[in-house]
Amino acid sequence: MGGVRQNKAMPNSKRRENLSPKNSATFSSPESGMTPKCQTVYIRTFGCQMNVRDSEIILGMLQKEGYLETESPKEADVVIFNTCSVRKHAEERAISNMGMLLKARGKKEKIFGIVGCTAQALKKDLFSRLPGLNIVCGPANIYDIPDLIKKAIKKDTQVLAVDRVKRPLLRDCSFRTDNLKAYVSIMYGCNNFCSYCIVPYVRGRQLSRPLRHIIDEVKDLASRGCREITLLGQNVNSYGQDLKGKTDFTGLLEKLNRVAGIERIRFMTSHPKDASKRLFSAMRDLSKLCKHLHLPLQSGSDKILKLMNRGYSFSDYSGLIECLRKIIPGCNITTDIIVGFPQESEADFQKTYQAMQKIRFDQAFIFKYSPRPKTKAAELEDDVPLKVKQKRNNMLLKLQKITSAVLVMLCVLFLFSGNAFAANKVFRNAEALILKDSYSQAAKECERIIARNPRAKVKAKAYYLLGICLLKEGKFDQAKKNLNQLLRRYPGSKFCQQAKAALSRSSFSVQVGCFAKEANARRLRGELINLGFQAYISKLRGEDLYRVRVGKFAGRQDARSLEQRLKTRGYPTKICQ
Ligand code: 5AD
Ligand code: SF4
Repeated sequence: MGGVRQNKAMPNSKRRENLSPKNSATFSSPESGMTPKCQTVYIRTFGCQMNVRDSEIILGMLQKEGYLETESPKEADVVIFNTCSVRKHAEERAISNMGMLLKARGKKEKIFGIVGCTAQALKKDLFSRLPGLNIVCGPANIYDIPDLIKKAIKKDTQVLAVDRVKRPLLRDCSFRTDNLKAYVSIMYGCNNFCSYCIVPYVRGRQLSRPLRHIIDEVKDLASRGCREITLLGQNVNSYGQDLKGKTDFTGLLEKLNRVAGIERIRFMTSHPKDASKRLFSAMRDLSKLCKHLHLPLQSGSDKILKLMNRGYSFSDYSGLIECLRKIIPGCNITTDIIVGFPQESEADFQKTYQAMQKIRFDQAFIFKYSPRPKTKAAELEDDVPLKVKQKRNNMLLKLQKITSAVLVMLCVLFLFSGNAFAANKVFRNAEALILKDSYSQAAKECERIIARNPRAKVKAKAYYLLGICLLKEGKFDQAKKNLNQLLRRYPGSKFCQQAKAALSRSSFSVQVGCFAKEANARRLRGELINLGFQAYISKLRGEDLYRVRVGKFAGRQDARSLEQRLKTRGYPTKICQ
């Protein structure tokens, strides 16, 4: 591999040129108008939530080493793809996208790495498929990534790190990209050996994290303001079976339910063979548990379920659902289905279709069977033609679309039936999001209410809340537009007075940079606008300084919350009046 550079080797002039927020860690000085450049990393994640969490861990480790994240693979010094190999298509997509980036790298010296399940599945073959690739690293080896990068740079060589059997358990896993919601891995790998599934071969055998580690991690998250956790594992119901103590998944849930500060607990994925009445009762009784179960069915045909080595029949599965619905009426149930598994006849497929009709899932993820190396099913002939797989896939998608639409309609009918109780319910979500400072999500919720709700009173409140959320996000122009809509369309609304007040007070803003050269200020303003912030340049009379500012706020507190968001994106900030 030719010419890899290290941080120190970066020429000074080049370092100073870059104003990208994620490249700059210090406040821009008015004299130079420039900031020193750090090394940057681009991470793209394919596949499941476990991979999302792993990417977060990688980013956390690299930030500790001084790297800053960039959203542009072209600009990054290190490009990492965290890959999935559950279906061939996902694997191929990652490889071909990486191939394109490698081709386009030109003379720029940087490090490219393939990490995760595909790295573990294809190992060193990836180096021959992707000339110029520097690092191949399996999921259990991700903790070594900072060292692997250093090694690739120093030794100017290809680095292979795969086949670690067990993940190291005691690692700092505190870094999170979201302050309010967090994924928490409770176990790694899987022992089920479903015949189609590559996971046990790329993620290894089941390894539960010790109860104490998980509880400490969740307590730490809560103390840092996290409110919602999602517990991750390939088969969370079998949590603890490989540990010496008597802990099981329900026991873990009971303990986590007691952690102060945490408000909502979700988990995925459950396996029907291990899901039980005990779990459903815990879901009902533990106040913080979300009433949602993701329970992959995979097929409605007993013949296919047997070939898949799933360990249950359709009647077992539907018995579980019946039991769940008795214990938690209205529980949200989602599933995964595979179509076109070897030997799936039209009659087998019809059984799946009828199963979905019978159960009425809230959501279903449909996959076309894809043979994976080493799996038992790969020994069977992949005898359902692609066209048939596609047709079956489309039929189930259509069925699910209708089922979901009917369920949503029922929900809407109930919520929008016109009484005050229903109207309050409509806003509960948006208001809860505002309380949690999740303004962009709350804004989306309000937009949905405006689009769907026919009632003037409800719409007026939604316009008001939307305007407030946009103000808090620093998007003054958009906020003004929505608040003016409210004033124009619903002049009699009780929110008009408050909207006028919100529009008239706007003395605070967040300063992101101050430059001697106007061109530099414009560049930073452009970047901020691209990121969705309403940035503008302010120049005081008689002064030759160009200040780049975002937002107009009534109070310092609101400006602070925007400042926080800009800070997490790597911008140096200052509140101005
Ligand atoms: N082919 C198609 N779908 C698969 N899944 C897992 N392995 C395969 C495969 N070889 C699906 C299953 C699983 C989801 C994560 O991916 O439905 O639940
Ligand atoms: Fe996740 Fe499985 Fe894909 Fe690995 S192969 S990323 S464990 S879905």
